[in-house]
Amino acid sequence: MDLSQLITTQPPSPLDSQRRLNIVFATAELAPYSKTGGLADVAASLPKAWAKRGHNVVVITPLYGHLDPAQMRLSRRLEALEVPRKSKNHSKLEAPLWETRMDHGVRVIFVQADEYFKRDGLYGDGNTPFEDNDQRFAFFSRAVVEFARTYALDVDVLHCNDWHTALAPLYARHYYEEEFAHTELALTIHNLAYQGTFDADRFDVTGLPKKYASAAEVLDGEGRVNFLKSGIQYADILTTVSRGYSEEIQTPEGGNGLHEVLAARADSLHGILNGADYSVWSPDADRVIPVKYDIERLNGKRQNKAALQHQLKLPVRPTLPLVGLITRLTEQKGIDILVPAVRSLLSELEDERAGFQLVVLGDGERRFHEELKELSADFPKRVVFFEGYSDEMAHRVQAGSDILVVPSRFEPCGLTQIYAMRYGTVPVVHATGGLRDTITDLRTDPETGTGFVFDDHNPEALAGALERAVATYRNYRKWRPLMVRAMEQDFSWKQSARQYEDLFLAQRSARAAE
Ligand code: ADP
Ligand code: GLC
Repeated sequence: MDLSQLITTQPPSPLDSQRRLNIVFATAELAPYSKTGGLADVAASLPKAWAKRGHNVVVITPLYGHLDPAQMRLSRRLEALEVPRKSKNHSKLEAPLWETRMDHGVRVIFVQADEYFKRDGLYGDGNTPFEDNDQRFAFFSRAVVEFARTYALDVDVLHCNDWHTALAPLYARHYYEEEFAHTELALTIHNLAYQGTFDADRFDVTGLPKKYASAAEVLDGEGRVNFLKSGIQYADILTTVSRGYSEEIQTPEGGNGLHEVLAARADSLHGILNGADYSVWSPDADRVIPVKYDIERLNGKRQNKAALQHQLKLPVRPTLPLVGLITRLTEQKGIDILVPAVRSLLSELEDERAGFQLVVLGDGERRFHEELKELSADFPKRVVFFEGYSDEMAHRVQAGSDILVVPSRFEPCGLTQIYAMRYGTVPVVHATGGLRDTITDLRTDPETGTGFVFDDHNPEALAGALERAVATYRNYRKWRPLMVRAMEQDFSWKQSARQYEDLFLAQRSARAAE
């Protein structure tokens, strides 16, 4: 059976058949089903953008413990997948496949393997990673490859994402070279800080022959099995989620130990910026926020702000700027500079009407929870730490804040600043990776600026940028055009989806010419 048979509700393709691709997109996260960060949003929106252009797209992802097939009304049309676990013909695991569809006919396959995925959490329990993550995602990578050859003949592109699926290219090339001879194996790096590294004595869980257990293949500079490194070497096409980050990761400072491996593949490495799904992240379409609004109805934003201040038990002050931050709480996200910057700015205030309010929506490492709790205890009328993961709150913070701060140390793309602009919530960002690529500083460019950008990653530089933002906010004649300009920016997937398509087609032509 091939994909065009499988996808029966596909609308007539606007693409000529030369350009139409069968794409299998493999991901450990998929919004709204399973999400810890931006990968889930990309997995939910890029495939839809491809399908809208006329490609046949299947997304494949694990059936985690919190997902109930009956409640989600998933169907079982395909036979269970037989996934080899050691070498090709040894013990197999029968993995039931559950299905649903997303917009534009994108088919979604959930792989059930209870011994690996039926537990609380995607990657771990709280802050402790599961001990068998190597085995879980080696299994999933292998399942992706088995799915692609069993149910999706004629796969033009097998698109893997991050370390969780990064072994798939090696499995495909090692076990099924001929079957995948005409398939482009793509790997997108969403975050190089997560590589999937495990002690060398865990190599056996990959099921791969011993010859791959060497530094040139899957071991990294530290002598650990490194899933991402393997993907970087075996994928035909490498992408990352902004142009800036694609350059940073080829340097010793930004390469997390893999800069040489990446630089060696520079010709195949492309930075393609993520897009936003404006059917989910736009104040005129948002199904969660108290009041919908758009550029013509900006009063709605004020109402969302008042509702948020009220909900957070902050003084409801229309003229005091409300700063938001929505984040995983990890080292990457710059909480270490945010806390002292906010502390210094708020300590100096004498007038209640001066300064700003801050809401942090975040979940992650305990030490950051503690620091943020302390900050809000010190400034109870100013700072609220909304602990935990809440999609609803993420939307409310976007709509109700005036300013969104993203103090990340590094940021491959970053989605919250892109969403914020559509909500008229002006970003304050560190000049790094995708943040630098998406936000233009108002001071550098008064006519086209969309936010405030600071260069050095330290509390003083962040405080300076926040002060500039707050001062500009106080002058509505300056603030309104800035807000409107931010809202007018178009970061929809259209362009980026097309860039991926061009890349896939170019690779196909190059292969054909070989
Ligand atoms: P990353 O992928 O590094 O976490 P992104 O900015 O690309 O960063 O994506 C983060 C995504 O996760 C956004 O959709 C954001 O709204 C969401 N998010 C992050 N933290 C939380 C939280 N605590 N509650 C709800 N949503 C969150
Ligand atoms: C990662 C990055 C983030 C990016 C997201 C989606 O988690 O940290 O910057 O936006 O993936 O690509």
